[in-house]
Amino acid sequence: MTGAGVDPYGTIRDVTILIREGVIDWIGPAGLVPVDAVSSAREVVDLGGGWVTPGLVDCHTHIVFGGNRAREWERRLEGVSYKQIAGEGGGILSTVLATRNATTAQLETDARARLNKMIDQGVTTIEVKSGYGLDLPNEMRMLEVARGLSELGVTVSTTLLAAHALPQEYVNNRGGYVDLVCEEMIPFAAGAGLADAVDAFCEGIAFTVDECERVLLAGIKHGLPGRLHADQLSDLGGASLAARLGALSADHLEYASEAGAAAMGEAGCAAVLLPGAFYSLGERQKPPIDVFREHGVPLVVATDANPGSSPIVQPLIAINQACVLFGLTPAEAIAGMTRLSAGVLGLEDRGVLEVGRRADLACWSISEPAELAYWVGGVQAQAVISGGRRIR
Ligand code: NIG
Ligand code: FE
Repeated sequence: MTGAGVDPYGTIRDVTILIREGVIDWIGPAGLVPVDAVSSAREVVDLGGGWVTPGLVDCHTHIVFGGNRAREWERRLEGVSYKQIAGEGGGILSTVLATRNATTAQLETDARARLNKMIDQGVTTIEVKSGYGLDLPNEMRMLEVARGLSELGVTVSTTLLAAHALPQEYVNNRGGYVDLVCEEMIPFAAGAGLADAVDAFCEGIAFTVDECERVLLAGIKHGLPGRLHADQLSDLGGASLAARLGALSADHLEYASEAGAAAMGEAGCAAVLLPGAFYSLGERQKPPIDVFREHGVPLVVATDANPGSSPIVQPLIAINQACVLFGLTPAEAIAGMTRLSAGVLGLEDRGVLEVGRRADLACWSISEPAELAYWVGGVQAQAVISGGRRIR
């Protein structure tokens, strides 16, 4: 399943893939493989009739955090809303407290355990956001822990999400916090090479359109492209803002308007769908998938793995949910977590199996591609190769 080609999966039957120095050197039907290339190969791996896909690219996660929010989830089941809990100073702010209080070693151990589960399901590239520190040292500590996750053999892209919630210390000084983000955190993260992008949460319980605009513009000024948590719980016009500022993506988008979707299509801004959050929050309003399709907006799928709205570390469950809850086809959902999500991270060297791309592969013992979307959890990759190196 190459992700490039005529059928929706880009299938090549009886495929052979030659890898040299971490890059795909040849790919095609076994009968056509150059004989000397096979005889001189240092290692030959026979997958015994399974399927191979590009390694999964999960482009929206928050897997570095302290504590968990199981108690809060119980309250939500009892009928208290996510917004209400946030309004009482719980929600994201309770994870901020737990993250600030956690040792760096604890944050590392917990994040590694989460990432290991994702690698078991074929992830070779992951984006990780900050956003539970909300002060300079803790935001940078989160990004450092995230960067360190590359020791597990995957590519890690990091995003500064300091504009995730207003920290308690700034409750009477919103402007002061946005200044801190724009004038200290973004320049520091950019200067230290700790972040690859900047994100903000544009929502009634978080930051306004104007505040998010300031944050994303500060990112652009320091060479960091924008992402945006947009129109998740209400339509503030986040999709249009993301499009107008040339953000790489707008994410969530349950309440995005037709005008917002059209602006995204025009600007080439991807829609990152996060069905895990929609599911876990028991939302009813779905993102306008058909409108995105009409306007040619790339449909990307990610886990949004986080302790509050999306406690899910199995990317294949997000792929399943994107099909069952949002009506994507399995081929669309798989492309949304390979080729199209690689595009959101600006990593055009992966996400498709073809000559010259990075050899990031996931191998599966399944009988047809749709099985990756069909099972609700439980499928593990048979082998995972990142940059030509086997990590599972
Ligand atoms: O993507 N929407 C905002 N941020 C996260 C939720 C974080 C949390 O609840 O801890 C999200 O859903
Ligand atoms: Fe998120």
